[in-house]
Amino acid sequence: MSFIPEAFIDDVLARTDLVELIHRQVPLKKKGKEYTACCPFHQEKTPSFYVNPDKQFYHCFGCGAHGNAVSFLMDYEHRDFRGAIEQLATSAGMSVPVSAVDHAVLDAQAQWQAAMVRANTHFKNQLRTHPEAIDYLKQRGVQGGTAALFDIGFAPSGNSLLTSCMNESETLNILQGLGLIIQKDEGERYDRFRRRIMFPIRDKRGQPIGFGGRIIGPGDPKYLNSPESELFHKGQNLYGLYEARLDNAKPPRIIIVEGYMDVVMLAQHGIRNVVATMGTATTDEQIQRLYRTSPTLIFCFDGDAAGRRAATKALHTALPHLTDGRDLRFLFLPDGEDPDSFVQAKGRAAFIERVEHGSLSFDNFMLQLLDQLEPGNDTATRAKKSKLGHDWLHQLPPGALRKITERRINEHTGLWRAQTKFSPKAEPSLPRNKPVTLSKQTLILALMLKHPDLTQELMNPAAWFNGEIPEGFLHLAKENPEQWAAKAAAYWDAEEVKFALECDFQGINEPENAPAILRDTLAQLKRSAADTASKQSARAALARFLPPGNPDRSPDRD
Ligand code: UTP
Ligand code: MN
Repeated sequence: MSFIPEAFIDDVLARTDLVELIHRQVPLKKKGKEYTACCPFHQEKTPSFYVNPDKQFYHCFGCGAHGNAVSFLMDYEHRDFRGAIEQLATSAGMSVPVSAVDHAVLDAQAQWQAAMVRANTHFKNQLRTHPEAIDYLKQRGVQGGTAALFDIGFAPSGNSLLTSCMNESETLNILQGLGLIIQKDEGERYDRFRRRIMFPIRDKRGQPIGFGGRIIGPGDPKYLNSPESELFHKGQNLYGLYEARLDNAKPPRIIIVEGYMDVVMLAQHGIRNVVATMGTATTDEQIQRLYRTSPTLIFCFDGDAAGRRAATKALHTALPHLTDGRDLRFLFLPDGEDPDSFVQAKGRAAFIERVEHGSLSFDNFMLQLLDQLEPGNDTATRAKKSKLGHDWLHQLPPGALRKITERRINEHTGLWRAQTKFSPKAEPSLPRNKPVTLSKQTLILALMLKHPDLTQELMNPAAWFNGEIPEGFLHLAKENPEQWAAKAAAYWDAEEVKFALECDFQGINEPENAPAILRDTLAQLKRSAADTASKQSARAALARFLPPGNPDRSPDRD
């Protein structure tokens, strides 16, 4: 809500020259009709930041930064909205009007806030005097300190809140406006929340703005939330964000879960960088707010179909915000588990381990989704996958992340054969700056040496090869994977394999990438064999894995 009249803002903007404003901070060069510079919002060596004097906006083709004079001051000088307008107004010789309306709104705001605090205090007092509520929390494993951290309270049956301010008609009106007290048609009033554990939802300063109430014992609905009000906008707030930032104002990552109890229980186990959406899909505003707090978001969902649907939604909402430097991951828990039950059953270390090693990067999740939505691997299906993948890709802002993701989608669909040429950043054993060529076989071998469990995966030929893998290769790998690996490494160019591992060629050292890369590379081998119209050559290519001189395991056996 802005307390500055819109007309005034328009007026200020009309009197501001964006080029001049930016030029004071970031020297601009004229280029055609526009002005350009190295982008002040990301690191770059060649300018991709453009300022358009006619339209009075800037745009960076590198990181997607985009906006007008107000957003420039907010993002570059870290001013809040009002501060930015005030600065622009001052430069233009104007002053921001302080109208009577402003004061009225601010007063009302303060009154609503006071009423919320009062309700919150009331619910906390009720918790202390209602053993059934304390028992419920105990039975769910919530400790006293945790309840205190989250300011948890209790709304008993009946009209305790209404009764507590019976003689204050103004307070009652405000509580009604906030949806904590409801008035029936006949004029009779009653408490919205009854027999519920009360979770206050706090804004960034810790001020309660709404509640989630969990029923104790049977009853519907399980959770009841405050309605939207002057203070509470569900889609703009996140449960637990204030409490998470108390622990660390700039956490390196934030985990987004579904439930109040998930946030509370993870915090009790010392995992504090957790927030919850409140029973609705994550909104743009929420994602924006989260990325302002942390560069990495990890969405945590149930592993079931509903969880994957919710994750797909979250993916689509988050993609447009994924500028370079940010990361997006997905964590799926075993069917029927939520973070609360998981952390109570398996402990803090197991949950953290899952976050660290069991979460999917957004691009891997995208590839999984493509395979799920367009199952099959024939040319037409791959074309469909490619189209869909590119539709998603266009939601990403321009930047390196988008280019790399595009390459992954193209490799995955076969639109672009895996080029095994690249210029490594750090290369341990080969000369610098020279493009390195690694064969697909080397890649596969390196993968299998790094992730021996993949050898087991190969035992499921349908998954990898539609049954076309040479028997001998499978048997040797199956019977003695370690010996196979050792023999294969000795047989193969050990230097090349070492190199692939050391410079993490195509990300093969990441366990989550390994299966996809292996599958893709094998599929490419198979395709290139099919292209030359000969299964013989596929066999020959694969036969190169086999140590020489073992006729019993010859791929030609079948
Ligand atoms: P869940 O149904 O998964 O419940 O709802 P939960 O969090 O595991 O709850 P417990 O452990 O049984 O107490 C997840 C979230 O969805 C919203 C709430 O925000 C809840 O935390 N929700 C759920 C509602 O808003 N209303 C409901 O009736 C149920
Ligand atoms: Mn639960």
